[in-house]
Amino acid sequence: MAPTGPGAPGTSLASDVQRWQRRHGRRDLPWIGERDPYRVWLSEVMLQQTQVATVLDYYRRFLARFPDVHALAAAPPADVLAAWSGLGYYSRARHLHRCAQQVVAEHGGRFPSDSAALARLPGIGRSTAAAIAAFCFGERAAILDGNVKRVLTRVLGFAADLASAAAERELWQRAEALLPARGIERYTQGLMDLGATVCLARQPLCERCPLAARCVARAEQRMHAYPVKTRRLKRGARDNVMVWIEHRGRWWLERRPESGVWAGLWCLPLVDDGTALERLVRRWPGVGRPLPEVQHALTHFDWTLRPLHWRWPARAKAPGADELVLPGEGRWFTPAQALAEGLPAPVRRLLERAGR
Ligand code: ADE
Repeated sequence: MAPTGPGAPGTSLASDVQRWQRRHGRRDLPWIGERDPYRVWLSEVMLQQTQVATVLDYYRRFLARFPDVHALAAAPPADVLAAWSGLGYYSRARHLHRCAQQVVAEHGGRFPSDSAALARLPGIGRSTAAAIAAFCFGERAAILDGNVKRVLTRVLGFAADLASAAAERELWQRAEALLPARGIERYTQGLMDLGATVCLARQPLCERCPLAARCVARAEQRMHAYPVKTRRLKRGARDNVMVWIEHRGRWWLERRPESGVWAGLWCLPLVDDGTALERLVRRWPGVGRPLPEVQHALTHFDWTLRPLHWRWPARAKAPGADELVLPGEGRWFTPAQALAEGLPAPVRRLLERAGR
């Protein structure tokens, strides 16, 4: 008989998850039931830090543009960034591209079929590797992304601090011990679905949960205490003016440096508030109009962006880099050209409103 938990006689945790997935899990997502590693990999990387609702559109468009790993590997980096633009966390897009190139160069265009080899590819962590191996090759491998950590620590009452590597290792072992002998695909999808639709961080819907009877956190009525993780990310704050220069309907964009925030994307020039800005615009003809500030949260800091819309007089000729004296490398774009490029999400939102 399968191991049982408190209050759930006769069934295992895994079989409860599988049965629930069959009846109540998500089935309307394009990557569910998919076995092509390229497609599964793409969906998992897109879903790493982005909500399903956002990913759906990107996933379809990305596949239409890059239908297989060869197409992606051969694409210019700017095209990949453009297709990713708006999903955020652009290092994911660069890793994705490098991974595709490595699969073509080192694996003949076929993704490796075990989780250990998958985890050696760029941008594929242990949990993503396990998800790909489980969905595509039926490997009994444990996943442990943020959602699944919440589900398992709650059910198990796992109270060790995940800031410690030893606790993290132990949770991986507990996750592995729970894997079913068969039906790993449905179990894996079931855990993901439970984490995304029932075992919610703020308002867990325990009355809908197939694991409620065995859930330690629920028995304790301490759902919010899990997972335990003490180390807090130290978040900084930044503040910049984002200069949107417009001349005869065209916009000046700069290419961001190859490393750092928004690496390689086209962006409105960013300058420090105060004297740097004053020095810059002192010799510019025309006038600037401040637009409502934009708050943007990145992993390590909160960013206040203050757009300044600068209308360069139409009677003057278009200024070049030397006349603008901006530090970055830039050029003029029509709105359509600009919006076809890889742009950071807040910049895109601002320009799209104007482009309409
Ligand atoms: N989040 C991460 N992987 C997922 C998947 N396969 N289905 C739904 N949400 C997910």
